[in-house]
Amino acid sequence: MSSNIDSVLKEKRRFEPPAEFIKQARMGPEQAAELRAGAAKDPQAYWADLARRELSWAKEFTEVLDSSAAPHYRWFRDGQLNVSANCLDRHVETQPDKTALVAINDDGTTRRLSYRDLHAKVATFANVLKRLKIAKGDRVVIYMPMIAEAIIAMQACARIGAIHSVVFGGFSARSLYDRIVDAKAKVVVTANFSIRGGKSIPLKAVVDEALGLGETPITDVVVYRRSDAEAPFDAARDRWWHELEEQAAGDAPCPAEPMDAEDTLFILYTSGSTGKPKGIQHSTAGFLLGTVAGMRNVFDIKDDDVFWCTADVGWVTGHTFICYGPLAIGATQVIFEGVPTHPGPSRFWEIIAEHKVSIFYTAPTAIRSLIKLGKELPAQHDLSSLRLLGTVGEPINPEAWMWYHEQVGQARCPIVDTWWQTETGSPMIAPMPSSVAAKPGSCTLPLPGIDAAIIDEQGEEVPQGQGGILALRQPWPSMLRTLWGDDDRFVKTYFPEDIAGGRYYITGDSAMKDEDGYVWIMGRIDDVLNVSGHRLGTMEIESALVAHPDVAEAAVVARPDELTGEAVVAFVVLQGDRPAGGEARDARTDELRKWVGKEIGSLAKPAEIRYGDNLPKTRSGKIMRRLLRTIARGEQITQDTSTLENPAILEQLADGG
Ligand code: WTA
Repeated sequence: MSSNIDSVLKEKRRFEPPAEFIKQARMGPEQAAELRAGAAKDPQAYWADLARRELSWAKEFTEVLDSSAAPHYRWFRDGQLNVSANCLDRHVETQPDKTALVAINDDGTTRRLSYRDLHAKVATFANVLKRLKIAKGDRVVIYMPMIAEAIIAMQACARIGAIHSVVFGGFSARSLYDRIVDAKAKVVVTANFSIRGGKSIPLKAVVDEALGLGETPITDVVVYRRSDAEAPFDAARDRWWHELEEQAAGDAPCPAEPMDAEDTLFILYTSGSTGKPKGIQHSTAGFLLGTVAGMRNVFDIKDDDVFWCTADVGWVTGHTFICYGPLAIGATQVIFEGVPTHPGPSRFWEIIAEHKVSIFYTAPTAIRSLIKLGKELPAQHDLSSLRLLGTVGEPINPEAWMWYHEQVGQARCPIVDTWWQTETGSPMIAPMPSSVAAKPGSCTLPLPGIDAAIIDEQGEEVPQGQGGILALRQPWPSMLRTLWGDDDRFVKTYFPEDIAGGRYYITGDSAMKDEDGYVWIMGRIDDVLNVSGHRLGTMEIESALVAHPDVAEAAVVARPDELTGEAVVAFVVLQGDRPAGGEARDARTDELRKWVGKEIGSLAKPAEIRYGDNLPKTRSGKIMRRLLRTIARGEQITQDTSTLENPAILEQLADGG
């Protein structure tokens, strides 16, 4: 495989940090520059200093980084701390009445939990887990709606050193079963129902189904009563959350147990685009430090901010920027159980206005659907509390970026486009908002302490402006430690011998650096197209399509072509209805092909365009291009599609769109 990837990028817009933002920022441009320079000179000293300043240690570390077993890196190895003590106990001492969580239910009812409230609930639930014979190192599966109890359960695990494995509440019984078995979990924490968009989703019934699929090591199922509706209940195995809480109420408050820095904090399975799910395993101190670095350097968080990350706790974003980061630095955050469309299409804007959200963090897929719900809706709400916006999860198409900037941020708020992965634990490439200008579609510069490079197979940096393999050349504290139960696969996947001799962490993404050193993610390496000898990332062609005023979403894949090696096949979702067949469709296709020709060059013109009401996506909103590839080749889909958000869409697209 050649690592050269041609970039056809034409985006030239650039947005300096707004003066209004700099004036009130926590970290000003000079301080940011100083931090960056210091970290470049001595990354280990930078991390050690941050770890001493921002975290409370039960036992100070003396050693920063141990590379003796690389690529198994160990950080702050002889130090001890407890994550829950860092997130709760230390804030109870200084600001017990500050609101930690503004938990908004699907129906709009809202619960506010202060740091004191949250601490008490976590300490009690930690005792509940102990009564269920959960000890340090045991695995607890959490399969919950987006309610405060999900965070309480996670924090309670951290408090006693149990390892949580959160499974997103939209996953099927089969996926849940596989994860329970792989982690050898002893307890499942769930709710009888999850309520989203006015509908009740029977979570507990899915747990029952999962546990019926085969033998599991589960001894107890803890059920939070989210709804009064009846759900199946097995008295021998199932326990009500509130009853257990009552029983544990008289216990001595559960202390936060000091953990070794390298003890495992959690496992989180990522399905990735191929193969068996990988149990990404994260450490205690290093992971926590990554979350704090993200809150400070990227989100510039201040005492009076109201932070809202719209992710689900089932994803890494919900671990780093809901359960841990905001609490670790003592912030106030909004969590939301529901969906953006219920009871109306302005739900997000209403929440921002009502709760005076100042930092809003969401995914490009959400932004595109918000645009589709109503381009003009944000302007009808008072969004003046916002000062900073963020995105994560995929490259953001420049047109979606512009809308976010103008309509939501009212040209006043910087946008932090944060590149990272479940494996990296925290953002690696993202702007520090008071000091780095934004370019729509670029995640900008590596953060302090991070050495991100675009390399070829030999490990050499490719020339500026050329696409290649995105690698991280130095270890960082929040990196994954291994894959649960499969260390061999960890080494082979992330430090493959055939790239740079296994010296660097290989991200699996392709990217390019421009003349200012800005990073542009081009897509997954496995998705690269090869048209007439030109290797093209998926992102640039998709962005060109979405730049057309009638296109809401697009995905491109390759299919073999006798003439050009590979031909581009585009899957397009229009702003309005799909074109009727025949002439209307041909005219539309002709127009879009010309459009891509004009935006990028004829090289990238799709040979074929299919139209759908939607695209096949993972539950976290990522387009499953490997399924589209199968469709584009006219082959039968044999891959597992159970983790798809919307499996029915495959038929529509296979039928010719
Ligand atoms: C993609 C999410 C472009 C990328 C935190 C990465 C992005 C994968 C961005 C990890 C971004 C994430 N710009 N691409 N800002 N953020 N990605 O594990 O392909 O769910 O490798 O972690 O998402 O997805 P994951």
